[in-house]
Amino acid sequence: MPANTALWLNAKGAPFTVGPAPYTAPGANEIVVRVRAVAVNPFDRAIQTMGGIITPWISYPFVTGSDIAGEVVEIGRQVTRFRIGDRVLGYAAGSDKRRNRAAEGAFQDYVVLLAHMAAPIPDAMAFEEAAVLPLGVSTAACGLFQKEFLAMNAPSSALAPKGETLLVWGGSTSVGSNAIQLAVAAGYDVVATASPRNFAYVKRLGAREAFDYRSKTVTADIIRALRGEKIAGAVAIGAGSAASCIDIVGACTGNRFVALATPAASFDDVPAGRGRLPRLAAAAARMVAGNIRLALKARLRGVRTKFIWGSDLIANEVGPMIFEAFLPSALADGRFVAAPSPTVVGAGLAQIPLALERQRQGVSATKLVVTL
Ligand SMILES: NC(=O)c1ccc[n+]([C@@H]2O[C@H](COP(=O)([O-])OP(=O)(O)OC[C@H]3O[C@@H](n4cnc5c(N)ncnc54)[C@H](OP(=O)(O)O)[C@@H]3O)[C@@H](O)[C@H]2O)c1
Repeated sequence: MPANTALWLNAKGAPFTVGPAPYTAPGANEIVVRVRAVAVNPFDRAIQTMGGIITPWISYPFVTGSDIAGEVVEIGRQVTRFRIGDRVLGYAAGSDKRRNRAAEGAFQDYVVLLAHMAAPIPDAMAFEEAAVLPLGVSTAACGLFQKEFLAMNAPSSALAPKGETLLVWGGSTSVGSNAIQLAVAAGYDVVATASPRNFAYVKRLGAREAFDYRSKTVTADIIRALRGEKIAGAVAIGAGSAASCIDIVGACTGNRFVALATPAASFDDVPAGRGRLPRLAAAAARMVAGNIRLALKARLRGVRTKFIWGSDLIANEVGPMIFEAFLPSALADGRFVAAPSPTVVGAGLAQIPLALERQRQGVSATKLVVTL
């Protein structure tokens, strides 16, 4: 049995530490992957600093992390899609309430994956590139395709234009980059927001038009651009995105629904460990007030909203829709690309906390990756 090592979170708010971990064999519908690259996400930091609030079910010691790419080393007895040695990307679902399992956290050498949340990657795609996709594509897919969200048509190679337009606020984020591509692959027009330096980037991914989210006239500009069109709704990503999307969608015809990716308040200034309680309480108060304001605004504008939980697709038809039916062929024929592009910040599990801190300071149209 191979020796495994993990980046452990031994208790709520504890520092990350590297140490030995058990190697876990796959269950019937699981595979084990030798991880070669992981990407880091705001959610990984959030679990460390406020796991007691957002993931109260987690049993410690725990291994966090969602995004991996690597090679399949062992296959569960009911798995037919993979062979040992296959190069794959996958969504490590350990932090999800339904899994709550350290063996399924990304930040270790050998990770157990749900087979239906993994996809083969083309030979020409580096592990570092592939690792940027899983949580970004999953969160975007949850917002776009789940029935209780935007309920859009599934992405397909037989592209029939739907005649509807999706607004992606935060198009250059990791979630937004995937939302643009998925919507275009499903036959929708897309308008997106980004910083002007990323206009060309979001257009390359398929957005028809790009708008600067910092512009004072952005809301009016987008409403004008969408006049006479039927909208598929909006995905709100980034600070302040929800209020603007509600204003825009509320002034449009079509599906007046905003799928929310970003919480109403940021917890970025809450440190792990000592001194966290006063900041945590202040952030929680901002969150409650922000949610009330958004609910009132949405009701006033006749817009429905719902907060996305990016791992919900593990338990419904959207997981297989993306990882089994869509990604394998779309990655192979180049219809879907790994975006945003990776910035490799180091090698080895010990580099992950540094990558998380760099992520907290902010990135633009890139995803931070650590190789293992
Ligand atoms: N609900 C869930 O399950 C779930 C899952 C994953 C992520 N998220 C959330 O989704 C958000 C994005 O995460 P990510 O990993 O995709 O982010 P990311 O790629 O790290 O975000 C970086 C990008 O954010 C953009 N940005 C910064 N401030 C913005 C604003 N006010 N409005 C719109 N865009 C802004 C920047 O765009 P420019 O450089 O073009 O200015 C930059 O490209 C975060 O709030 C994260 O917590 C939620």
